[in-house]
Amino acid sequence: MASQILLVFLLSFFFLHQEASSQVLIFEGFDETDEINCDGSSIIKDSRLLRLTNRSTNIIGHAFYKTPFQMLNKTDPPIQPYAYSFSTYFVFSIVSPNSGSGGFGLAFTIAPSTEFHGAQAGHYLGLFNTTNDGNASNHIFAVEFDTVNRYNDDSDSEGNHVGVDINGMGSKITEPAAYIEEGTESVKDDFRMAKVDAVQAWIEYDGEKRTLNVTIAPLKLSRPSTPLIKNYKIDLYNVMKENMFVGFSASTGQETSSHYLLGWSFAVNGVAPMLSNLPKPPPKEQDPSSFPWVKVAIGILSALTLSLLCLLILLTCYNRYMDFEVLEDWETDCPHRFRYKDLHLATKGFIESQLIGIGGFGAVYKGVLPTTGTEVAVKRIVRSPLHGMREFAAEVESLGRLRHKNLVNLQGWCKKKNDLLLVYDFIPNGSLDCVLYNPNNSFVLNWGQRFNIVRGISAGLLYLHEEWEQVVIHRDVKTSNILIDGNLSARLGDFGLARLYNHGQVSHTTNVVGTIGYIAPELTRTGKASTKTDVYAFGVVLLEVVTGKRPLDSDQFFLVEWVVENYHLGQILEVIDPKLDSVYNEEEVELVLKLGLLCSQHRADYRPTMKQVTRYLNFDDPLPDIADWGHVGSNSSSRMNSGFLEITSSLRTAETSGYSSSITMSTKSIDAGR
Ligand SMILES: *[C@@H]1O[C@H](CO)[C@@H](O)[C@H](O)[C@H]1NC(C)=O
Ligand SMILES: *[C@@H]1O[C@H](CO)[C@@H](O)[C@H](O)[C@H]1NC(C)=O
Ligand SMILES: *[C@@H]1O[C@H](CO)[C@@H](O)[C@H](O)[C@H]1NC(C)=O
Ligand SMILES: *[C@@H]1O[C@H](CO)[C@@H](O)[C@H](O)[C@H]1NC(C)=O
Ligand SMILES: *[C@@H]1O[C@H](CO)[C@@H](O)[C@H](O)[C@H]1NC(C)=O
Ligand SMILES: *[C@@H]1O[C@H](CO)[C@@H](O)[C@H](O)[C@H]1NC(C)=O
Ligand SMILES: *[C@@H]1O[C@H](CO)[C@@H](O)[C@H](O)[C@H]1NC(C)=O
Ligand SMILES: *[C@@H]1O[C@H](CO)[C@@H](O)[C@H](O)[C@H]1NC(C)=O
Ligand SMILES: *[C@@H]1O[C@H](CO)[C@@H](O)[C@H](O)[C@H]1NC(C)=O
Repeated sequence: MASQILLVFLLSFFFLHQEASSQVLIFEGFDETDEINCDGSSIIKDSRLLRLTNRSTNIIGHAFYKTPFQMLNKTDPPIQPYAYSFSTYFVFSIVSPNSGSGGFGLAFTIAPSTEFHGAQAGHYLGLFNTTNDGNASNHIFAVEFDTVNRYNDDSDSEGNHVGVDINGMGSKITEPAAYIEEGTESVKDDFRMAKVDAVQAWIEYDGEKRTLNVTIAPLKLSRPSTPLIKNYKIDLYNVMKENMFVGFSASTGQETSSHYLLGWSFAVNGVAPMLSNLPKPPPKEQDPSSFPWVKVAIGILSALTLSLLCLLILLTCYNRYMDFEVLEDWETDCPHRFRYKDLHLATKGFIESQLIGIGGFGAVYKGVLPTTGTEVAVKRIVRSPLHGMREFAAEVESLGRLRHKNLVNLQGWCKKKNDLLLVYDFIPNGSLDCVLYNPNNSFVLNWGQRFNIVRGISAGLLYLHEEWEQVVIHRDVKTSNILIDGNLSARLGDFGLARLYNHGQVSHTTNVVGTIGYIAPELTRTGKASTKTDVYAFGVVLLEVVTGKRPLDSDQFFLVEWVVENYHLGQILEVIDPKLDSVYNEEEVELVLKLGLLCSQHRADYRPTMKQVTRYLNFDDPLPDIADWGHVGSNSSSRMNSGFLEITSSLRTAETSGYSSSITMSTKSIDAGR
């Protein structure tokens, strides 16, 4: 006989203090004579497999053990009553179609009855329906192994997940399916339940402690030391009735998979035994691409499609950028495209404790990639207004190839529905903004470090503007976009994002992009970013690094204006950050201050290029004589003043139009335009 049923064991050695009797079920494969109630689509096959559903749409299959188990101590209840402990081990297999996704899943279920009147297929898994979903009168406990997530569309939970359900499908806790081994070498390996031959699952509930463990592993591997859901606090006392049926339910929806059980053991107040002599897992669907001629055909087809796609992208972009000063080159080999699941895992499901910052374009989370263990920063741009996937891919591809020691390199990306995820190097020591201004930061940068940071920023910008194969305009140079790495070198972040955003806009030329305080005057008028608008913002950053003051502090204080005033009063060294304690190299400080003023001039054509800036900073060239600056010269105070006055008035205009000083305007204008 394929299976044996052993009832009423006495495992008193296990629960010494309790003297509880233990009931155990063991099915090593299934056969017709077994005391299992099959209904709906479920049948026991000659191959000793129990098939809950086949690949028909919207069907339900149940398989429950015929006799109920006693789950509560009613005769002699303890003072603080609890449900009995139980433990189960089973092996299942999901056979999903090769192309597209399968569905929906199966659930280990404990229920007061084996009849589920009116229960629906699809994501209700044949247990609940829209009316009774979540109703405490259901008394149903289930652990679902679900391959589709449609139940709660805005939740982060993955399709391929394990969830604990009480009385309804809104899972109390869900985890993406993974094999976890902790120890000297920790492993957390995601796997697709529908792709492996078969999956082993252990569910263990401790009644007195009221904790639940769920552990899964592919059939080929041994039981991992660490449960996927570990010591989850849950009290099943009010869920259980005195007598409960145990078994399985599965359903399909529009997406379909066949769901099979290979074997099952279950014990109340005891340990479910391991199983041997299981039937062979059902065969997976033949992958048509395993035929060589199909592979060749697919290869040729995809090559054709690819070249067509390239042509299309090139054409679109050419048209779009005809009147733009920067022409881009589009290619299709993207930087690494991450799996959403991995990033979800890396950031622990984007939980708040992993949040390391909120920028103009979205929140940034710290993460550890499960595959390599490297630390990354994941920028999550929610509800991105991007439409064209191909344009987006091309844009990310071009950003992904930028590599420089003073840039925060883009490692890869991922897109899921409206979520756009960009993966960057993780820079542990925070932003320049934080280092300069955070009152909680006791660390003060000395002058040497500041000068090094200034040189780093200029090297990064020079690379973007002149040294790479195309001109890349940063568009949002500011202290909070400059990260400080372990060597206290500057790394420019967030480059190119603004343009990426503009692709989603119908009319993108009118969008002012940048942050108040760093926006060149001509940018507010024309909305056209250029390398010179970056230089302007860079100039403001230089002044910040020397003075330790923000570009705008109140309605009254404008950094550039203030430095110019002091300059005219002949007391330029008065503006130096008092935190430096008068310890600095005077020549360098003066150079950086003057360069800051030179860069943040009102007239764009008076500003130097980044190449010139770098030469000045290396003392390769002397700064131009101040009289030659045109507007700061000894007798140009009228022009000078009018110039700077115009800057401040443009800043004020921007402020009164509803933008606060720390908000990136591009985000705002996109929101407003929606
Ligand atoms: C599923 O099983 C039912 C009944 O056994 C059968 O009528 C149906 O054709 C099967 N569906 C598929 C897709 O095999
Ligand atoms: C029921 O609870 C009592 C304590 O109140 C305990 O002595 C007894 O062993 C329990 N029975 C079972 C079957 O667990
Ligand atoms: C849902 O199920 C309950 C019983 O479980 C049944 O009374 C009710 O009619 C069902 N509702 C629908 C919409 O099928
Ligand atoms: C839960 O179900 C019971 C019995 O079916 C019903 O009387 C009650 O109104 C339901 N509660 C809710 C909140 O739907
Ligand atoms: C759950 O797992 C933890 C850690 O592996 C273990 O300490 C605990 O006893 C387990 N609980 C149950 C109910 O098996
Ligand atoms: C500084 O620390 C205090 C208390 O820990 C905290 O409330 C405050 O937000 C911190 N300020 C900054 C700018 O981080
Ligand atoms: C610091 O600089 C050294 C030498 O330039 C380099 O090898 C190292 O990787 C840098 N460390 C960090 C954290 O950037
Ligand atoms: C961060 O900066 C501090 C100085 O503020 C330095 O001592 C520390 O080594 C840096 N940490 C890392 C991880 O580079
Ligand atoms: C510079 O020009 C302004 C008027 O444009 C004049 O008032 C001022 O006296 C001149 N200063 C010098 C030093 O020539």
